This record gives sequence, C-alpha cells and structure tokens, in this order.
Amino acid sequence: MQKATGQTAIGQTATGQTATGQAGAGASAYDATYAAWRRDPEGFWASAAAAIDWAEAPRRIFDPGAGPYGRWFPDARLNTCHNAVDRHVAAGRGGQAAILWDSPMTGRVETLTYAALQGRVARLAGALRERGVGAGDRVVLYMPMVPEAAIGMLACARIGAVHSVVFGGFAAAELAARIADARPKVILAASCGLEPGRVVAYKPLLDAAIALSPHKPDRVLVLQRAQAEAALLAGRDEDWLAAEAAAAPADCVPVAATDPLYILYTSGTTGKPKGVVRDNGGHAVALRHSMAMLYGVGPGEVMFTASDVGWVVGHSYIVYAPLLTGATTVLFEGKPVGTPDAGTFWRVCAQHGVKAMFTAPTAMRAIKRDDPEGRLLAAHDLSRLEALFLAGERCDPPTAEWCAGLLGKPVIDHWWQTETGWPISGNFRGLGLFPARFGSGGKASPGYEVAALDEAGQPLPRGQGGTLAIRLPLPPGCLPTLWQADDRFRESYLAAFPGWYNTSDAGVVDEDGYISVMSRTDDIINVAGHRLSTGSMEEVLAGHPDIAECAVIGIRDSLKGQVPLGLVVLKSGVARAEAEICRELVALVRERIGPVAAFRDARVVSRLPKTRSGKILRATLRRIADGEAYTVPPTIDDATILGEMEERLRAG
Ligand code: COA
Ligand code: AMP
Repeated sequence: MQKATGQTAIGQTATGQTATGQAGAGASAYDATYAAWRRDPEGFWASAAAAIDWAEAPRRIFDPGAGPYGRWFPDARLNTCHNAVDRHVAAGRGGQAAILWDSPMTGRVETLTYAALQGRVARLAGALRERGVGAGDRVVLYMPMVPEAAIGMLACARIGAVHSVVFGGFAAAELAARIADARPKVILAASCGLEPGRVVAYKPLLDAAIALSPHKPDRVLVLQRAQAEAALLAGRDEDWLAAEAAAAPADCVPVAATDPLYILYTSGTTGKPKGVVRDNGGHAVALRHSMAMLYGVGPGEVMFTASDVGWVVGHSYIVYAPLLTGATTVLFEGKPVGTPDAGTFWRVCAQHGVKAMFTAPTAMRAIKRDDPEGRLLAAHDLSRLEALFLAGERCDPPTAEWCAGLLGKPVIDHWWQTETGWPISGNFRGLGLFPARFGSGGKASPGYEVAALDEAGQPLPRGQGGTLAIRLPLPPGCLPTLWQADDRFRESYLAAFPGWYNTSDAGVVDEDGYISVMSRTDDIINVAGHRLSTGSMEEVLAGHPDIAECAVIGIRDSLKGQVPLGLVVLKSGVARAEAEICRELVALVRERIGPVAAFRDARVVSRLPKTRSGKILRATLRRIADGEAYTVPPTIDDATILGEMEERLRAG
C-alpha cells in the first residue's frame, strides 16, 4: 500500500489545559489550523490523506464536477478494512487490544486483539464471498452491541461490500423499509439483544421484516446467543459462527475512494428513511484526522464511546475512527444506569484506562439523576481519563457544568449529524483547547464553514439566529449523496440555499465563532439522543381506524431532552373511551416504529390549530406544551382553539 505525500496537518498532543481543563491557551493553534484550511482546503486534506494507506494514492484531491456537489479523492483506491485492521497487525500491533467488549448485560469482559480481529474478519469476509457477496453488494446488519457487529461491518469493508446497520430498537416495519431500499444479498443478525429486564428476540422481528419487504436476501447468518437461540429457516438461514469457522479467509479488496462503504438510514421528514451514503476514501481520511484533532486519541490509546453501532456515533467512534487510528475501542453492552448502577461508565473508564469518553447528554442526565453527588465515581481511578465528549442532542448548560464539576476535566460539547459523519463543530484537543462555553457546540471544525442564514439564504451577521448551513463543498467524510437518490439529496439538503448544505438545525454563530444549536427547523425530534421523525409517527397514528387527523410534537423532557406527544382528532361518531384509544395508539407506534420511539402519550382533542392554508401549527403547540410564552400566529384560522390546547397540553 502507498502513502499519500504530505505532512500530517495537526499536532498530536493536547496542550494548554488549565487545572479544571475547561480553558486553554491554544486558541491560536485552532485559529491557525482553521486559517490554513481556508487558505488551501485541498492542501489541507492532501496532508490529512498521508495518514491513510492507499492502493493508489490520490493525485487529484477534489473533483467539483462529480456528484451533486463534488467528490473527494476521485482517482484514489484503498481498502478501509486494511486501514482499520491489517496495517496495524503488519506494523506490530497484532497483540494490542483492538476491541474491548465490556458487557454488564452478560457479565462478560473480553479482549479482541488486532491479530484476532484480523483472523475473524477475514474468515467472515470469506464466508460472505462464498455466499455470493462481492464488491458493491449490500449486507444488512441487525445487531446488538457485541464484537460481531464490528466484525460484520469490517468483513463487508474487506471485500468492498456495502453494509447497512439497523439499530436494534427499531421494529420489523422499519427494518423492512431498510431491507427494501438497500436490497441486501445477505443479512447478518444476532438471535437477540439484551435490554434491562428483557431479552429482545431479534429473529422473529427479522423474519417479519423479510416477509414485509418486497426484496428478500439470499442468506441470513445468525449469531446464536445463549439468552435466546433462534430457529433457523432451512435453505436461507445459517449459523454465523459455523459459517465463519468453515470459510477460507478473504484478502482486502481495494476499491475506489468514491465507492460506498456503508449506507446508514436516518429519519427524514417523511416515513421513508434517508439512506446516508459514506464513501471509503473521504471517510477514512476525515475520521483518522478527527481522532487526533478533536479527540486527542492516538495509536495504542483507549476510547470509550457509549452509543450503539446502529447510530452514526457508533459507526464513527466505536468502530471506524479508533480502529483506523490503531487505538483500542471499548464496545459496551449496557446502559448508563441500572447495569448495575450509575457508576458503570466510571468503572469502565478506570478498568480499561480510557483516555477519551464520548456519550450523549441524556446518558449524563440519567447518571446525575441517580447519583447526583457522584458518590459512585469516587471508587474509581479516572486519572487516565482526559476528556468527556458529548453530542447527539443539545447539551443543557446545567448538565455540562455538573459533568465538569464532577470530573474536573474538559467537557466538550460537539455538534454533528448522521449526514456529516464527524463533528461540524467542537473543541480541539489536538490543537489546544479554547475556553469552553456551555450551551455552545464549540467552533467550526477545520473543513467546515458554518453560517446562520436568513430565509433568503443570506448569511446573517454574527450573533443573529437563523438556519445553520455549511458552505459547499462538504469536507471529506460527509455524505456525497443519498443511496440511489441524488434528487432527494439535492431537494433535502441543497435546494433551500444554493451553494450551502442545509443542516436543518436552527442556531447562532456568535462574534467569536462559537456555534449554538438550538432546535431543528423540520419535524425531526431528538429523544434520548435518538433521532426520530414525528412525520413517521403521524403516519402510524393516521393509520388507526378511529383517527381523523393528528399531530405529533416533541415536548421537553428532563431526562430524554424531548419525548413525542400525539394529539389526535377522532372521526365523527367514534364514541370509545380516550384511554382505550390512546393505549392502542401507543402500542401501534411501538409495533410499527419500535420501542426506541418512546411514544407513551397521546391525547384526544376536538380539532387542531391550523393556519388558514391548513398547516398544523406544530411550533405553537410545542411552545404551549413546554409552558413557554407564545404569540398567536397571525395566520391562524381560528384562535379560539388555543384555549383548549392549553388545557389539554398543560394538564400534564
Ligand atoms: N434494542 C431493543 N430495544 C431498545 C434498544 C435496542 N438496542 N435500545 C433501546 N431500546 C428500548 C428500551 O429498552 C426501551 O424500551 P421500553 O419502552 O420497553 O422500556 C425503549 O427502547 C426506549 O429506550 P430509551 O429511550 O433508551 O430509554 P430508557 O428509559 O431505556 O433509557 C437512557 C434511558 C437515558 C438510559 C438511555 O436512553 C440512554 O442510554 N441513552 C443514551 C443514548 C445514546 O447513546 N444515543 C446515541 C447518540 S450519541
Ligand atoms: P443524528 O443524525 O442522529 O446524529 O442527529 C443529528 C441532530 O442531533 C442534529 O441535526 C442536531 O439537531 C442534534 N445534535 C447533535 N449534536 C448536537 C449538539 N452537540 N448540540 C445540539 N444539537 C445536536
């Protein structure tokens, strides 16, 4: 494999932290790096590309004429699995832990070295190849937090296949929609996932999803877990471990840097999820670069990202970025609280010598709720932990302050999306930290120019709120398009503000460049760090035979940030009890979307407030429900309805 020429663009060590770690003297390093990127973006990324092994090194860095907004590294070839696994073994890291699986759900802690990982990935890749999977073919994974989830992803990458991981908390219909869109040749699944107090049998959900999907996979490899072994369907299903053990190992297959590595479906504004595409080259370059620049984690060091492989945070910072770096990743099967207690994260950090930890603010709120004094932390030696990173939802300042006070270490809120794959903004341990301002997601990452735009797409003066947008082109690692849907990509992200990528987040960039993300501009809500579409919940509610119309809004929740609330208008003549109908609606959303929707509250109303053109006034409803002051919208059709809304929404 070749190296791209160039120097690495960033320093490897974090400097400038004060005793509390919140402020640093390194703002100038950030400013200099950001300015260097502005001056010569292609030179910046060419430098970063030197940290990756290429089968054919990039000669051209960016092609503005390809794809909806251009493509990175258009003439290069590489293999992501080689970069994440094989090259580290070749460099003498074979005996180092690649994955530390820590599972309070099963009581097991296991280490997979880079050499062991290489062996398992190569055999599973061989098994996939023997089952007809080749470069460009899709493989869907429906997996809990076990090492095989990462092994499955890397095995696909090894042979150039495109993986699509579906979060285990989604129900059969959501899984079916993803199978139908990705059209996988093979599905990799575990027999079950483990949630506190219950075993989630995945196989019946998977069988139902395959029955619902017009596309059927040729094969399903099932990882049998002792907690619930699954019945295998003759001719289609096989035992994963037996297939892996019997297969001849497969070598890494170089692919074009622009070839897709994975598809990750995320909530759009309709019920049909968006297939976010990640390519091989830009992804490897950006993620490897981010490990040093943002997280300050290098080869041989340990990162603990408490998320799930089904989300982008899991893809990027449980699996790919740590492994591309030759670091050790902790793969944690458990919850922040209750497995067994609110000290679990601290135990993991101490036991495995974690240097950087990453989770969602909601997890910290759960820990704070159960252990407000941090008594469970005292038992653990966290001397090797250097920073806590938070993302996935807005972090409320009291939570950030509580974390900082408890840990006495930098608490870094950083902002990103499934679409971008790595942080749009943050604070930069590899550049020296600048002073944190809680409530803000930091400053733009080198690679991103961020502005708040007005409705006409004009950048607003610093300090004024608008729609946050990123000037095109997006940096490497961001989605080049949606899976087989260039037009939907353009409509969803590029059409509103020509020359900019619309994040659909509302917020402000202040005088000093700090970015604060306040809310979404669309009907996406964020429940316990999980991104959900209220539109898709409305589609489910509207399918109930007694419902004439409905609205789902996200209302404030002290633990989960937001939770969905359904407001429904019954068809005339329906005289059933409200409680009974609402129970059915809650069950319906759980059955169609999954438990992750956390849809537990529906209320019957006589009608919904609308504009004269018939648009439901969701933002006003949300303000009423959250107890905020609101103005009566001038476009409202009939303001008398707002009294009833106050009564129904503020009743609790
Ligand atoms: N498979 C199956 N079911 C799942 C699941 C999975 N992978 N993940 C969650 N669920 C279920 C839960 O069991 C729960 O089911 P229930 O209604 O039967 O209780 C439901 O989905 C809602 O889960 P959740 O929203 O996670 O709430 P919770 O009350 O179980 O836990 C927290 C609350 C805060 C502890 C939890 O949400 C958490 O750890 N959040 C962090 C989220 C995170 O890491 N996000 C990634 C972005 S960085
Ligand atoms: P997801 O695609 O699931 O990662 O969700 C992305 C969305 O989560 C963003 O568009 C934001 O609305 C929200 N989000 C993520 N990180 C942050 C953050 N640090 N601050 C505020 N909102 C965030």
